[in-house]
Amino acid sequence: MRKIPTNSRPSRRKPELALDLSGAHVTPGASSQHRLYQALCHAITGGIAKPGEPLPPSRTLAKQTGFRRNAVTSAYERLIADGFAVATVGSGTFVAARIPARVNDRSKAKIAVEPPQQGPLALGCTHIDERALQRFRAFTGRRLRAFGTEHLHYGDPRGSRELRVAIADHLLSARGLRCDPDQIMLTSGTQHALRIVLGAILKHGDQIWCEDPGYPAARKAIEHCRLRLVSVPVDASGMIIARGRALAPTAGAAYVTPSHQFPLGVQMSMPRRLELLDWAREASAFVIEDDYDSEFRYDGAPLLSLAGIDHLSRVIYMGTFAKTLFPGLRIGYCALPERLVGPVTTARAALDRFPGTLLEGAVADMLNSGTFAANLRRVRGLYREARDVLASTLSSASNGELSVPVPSQGLHLVARFDPSTDPLVAAKAKADAGVAGWLLAETYHRARPLPGFVLGFAGHPIPQLVASARRLAEASLSALQSTRNVNSGNGVRRLKSAT
Ligand SMILES: Cc1ncc(COP(=O)(O)O)c(C=O)c1O
Repeated sequence: MRKIPTNSRPSRRKPELALDLSGAHVTPGASSQHRLYQALCHAITGGIAKPGEPLPPSRTLAKQTGFRRNAVTSAYERLIADGFAVATVGSGTFVAARIPARVNDRSKAKIAVEPPQQGPLALGCTHIDERALQRFRAFTGRRLRAFGTEHLHYGDPRGSRELRVAIADHLLSARGLRCDPDQIMLTSGTQHALRIVLGAILKHGDQIWCEDPGYPAARKAIEHCRLRLVSVPVDASGMIIARGRALAPTAGAAYVTPSHQFPLGVQMSMPRRLELLDWAREASAFVIEDDYDSEFRYDGAPLLSLAGIDHLSRVIYMGTFAKTLFPGLRIGYCALPERLVGPVTTARAALDRFPGTLLEGAVADMLNSGTFAANLRRVRGLYREARDVLASTLSSASNGELSVPVPSQGLHLVARFDPSTDPLVAAKAKADAGVAGWLLAETYHRARPLPGFVLGFAGHPIPQLVASARRLAEASLSALQSTRNVNSGNGVRRLKSAT
């Protein structure tokens, strides 16, 4: 062991040290040396072994703990290297006179991380057909076995060309969007694509139009880029472009969900699409089209994408496999106007260089083998059934108090109370029913929120959908009843205050 002189006076050696080798501070399954190190750190930072005090000789500690002696000496060496202990020639190892600042487990503040939405009626869940999943496993295994030198090095910031070619084919056939694979960039989802693109086309303080109500995660990305969010209201034809023009005529971009407005589900009308593109040309602005769920159209053919109408001139198209396959895959993509390929590629390289190479080939296999399309056909049928069950259960179990338009696309629906309903009714009902999903109000920014819920129907078993829809409808009726009692019975309040 390396001997390091200490400035503290050697005191009498402790024969034994009370070490806790099984608490939460110890990683189960870690090497004996690492567990010992963690337990020693815990004893030192917790004041069990005080500054300047001697640590037991390695032989004694080995005997006490049942670990091998070299595990003890390695743990001591690491304590010394990290500044928790010092060694004196001929005298042994001592707790350092000053302990490096380190957060003691007990005083460690709880780290607040918002958990992902889970539970009944949560959004963002998907179902992947078992056959498709098996093929995905097989493709991944095959790709892994063939993993070669080209996968081991740095790659193109846009990601694998093979997958980009497959996506370009998909976009042409499914969305009427013709683009060169060189205009496509793979990302780890829409959220990531947004951060890269926003960073490349706008600078801090620039204005960007957003739908209100709209997709809260996109708003978060925009706020994190320190852009000025301009909330533009939405009506039955989509974003009201005239309002956008009035609020921020020189904004640098607009973020929209034209095929299936999130959350209301309206489709942007053709006149509005043309108005939006006219504005973008006049203002030299870009339009970000988030086409998150177009593959799930239940009635009629899917509409041409905005980027398809614009021929990728001022529109940046974003798509994701989070819904068509599964969110854990973390693969999405954007199709860029030619003039943006350079700046966006540079921005991507500055951020995380390029996407991981392992799964891209397997996703290309899914698309090229027809497995992707077959999976979509199968799950589309399941989702249609889930959508119908959820909508009909909610409206019948709420005696019509919830109006539930059946969406013609997507994986979520909106259930609304009468607009005059107290906003607290929805919050109370959702909490009482113990369901996930969102309050419709959470998707609003500046506009006056409508009372209701945004609920996911994909990826939940039908019996669970029925049970949770019933709970939510019943909780809604009780919450409505209690507000009515309060409103009609001011006497109740008066009675209370009179006593
Ligand atoms: C409006 C909208 N855009 C995009 C996405 C997908 O985001 P990501 O690819 O980052 O998972 C979702 C997912 O729920 C969404 O609701």
